[in-house]
Amino acid sequence: MNIIVTGGAGFIGSNIVDELVKMNHNVAIVDNLSTGKVENINVKAKFYKVDIRDTKKIIEIFNDFKPDVCIHHAAQIDIQTSIKNPKFDAVVNIIGTINILEACKINKVRKIIYASSASVYGNPEYLPIDEKNKTNPISYYGISKLTSEYYVKVFSKFYGIKFTILRYANVYGIRQAFKGEGGVIAIFLNKIIKKEIPVIYGDGEQTRDFIYVKDIVNANVAALTKGNNETINISTNNKISINELVKYMRNISKRNFNYIYKNKRDGDIMHSYIENEKAKKLLDWMPMYSIEEGLKATYEYYKNLYNK
Ligand SMILES: NC(=O)c1ccc[n+]([C@@H]2O[C@H](COP(=O)([O-])OP(=O)(O)OC[C@H]3O[C@@H](n4cnc5c(N)ncnc54)[C@H](O)[C@@H]3O)[C@@H](O)[C@H]2O)c1
Repeated sequence: MNIIVTGGAGFIGSNIVDELVKMNHNVAIVDNLSTGKVENINVKAKFYKVDIRDTKKIIEIFNDFKPDVCIHHAAQIDIQTSIKNPKFDAVVNIIGTINILEACKINKVRKIIYASSASVYGNPEYLPIDEKNKTNPISYYGISKLTSEYYVKVFSKFYGIKFTILRYANVYGIRQAFKGEGGVIAIFLNKIIKKEIPVIYGDGEQTRDFIYVKDIVNANVAALTKGNNETINISTNNKISINELVKYMRNISKRNFNYIYKNKRDGDIMHSYIENEKAKKLLDWMPMYSIEEGLKATYEYYKNLYNK
């Protein structure tokens, strides 16, 4: 299959590209390297250094590569950036997605897989959060991801492009950025390795559903052929508090490191714990990595980076 992965030089996208290449798909990456890295780019994939805001170039790439499927991961991903600069977030995430959809339409792309986020739910009505929970984003990032979902669905309705929208829980794992915008696990593990003091925002009792990146890869692979025209949570259905996470990290790193608490940040929700029954049923998928396995692999990855 010819597959375009936008954001394929980034954390999740590059892990997906590696797997697709392994499966002998013909893969192209579209990425502007704003947070993505050259060293993440699989040498067997075709690389287009292009911004998804550039309508003309995006259409040219699709004309040139003729994808059967587009896996759309390029995005502004930082909630705090979205709060400081909502317009930038909207232009990259919404207008960028419209450009990708236009290119899909013109080139009769069979299917788009869209990387959405559990942030579309905001403060949930009930836990665990299933797909029937009301969407009520509390950050501009949540709004831009949810709005893009609607564009995906309406383009599908008008032009027959199949879609699967995957709403990820908190993803962690190898290649996640740890400078400023990365997830809490990436930032913590790097502080531990560098013998710096990690910061917990709030009292640490907030819970999250942390899912390992390879489970996300498997969900995308499943969505190549399954889950057509569905919106599906991808999560572990387990909740872990940040304080518990610290305990796991102490065990894995074998270091009794210190940490400090600071004020809760705007846009952070208190509890997130996400149901995955629909993914099990429609994608024939389930999470395969325990938090210990995922954390260990991620810790080893960062340690090796520093030893290089
Ligand atoms: N990491 C998570 O926990 C998480 C959770 C839910 C959803 N997601 C979604 O998954 C996707 C990938 O996120 P990630 O964590 O791998 O982040 P990432 O920042 O590592 O990846 C995003 C990639 O998109 C590229 N990019 C950004 N703006 C671009 C633009 N204007 N044009 C072209 N390329 C651009 C970046 O260079 C980067 O390679 C995003 O759509 C994000 O919203 C991530």
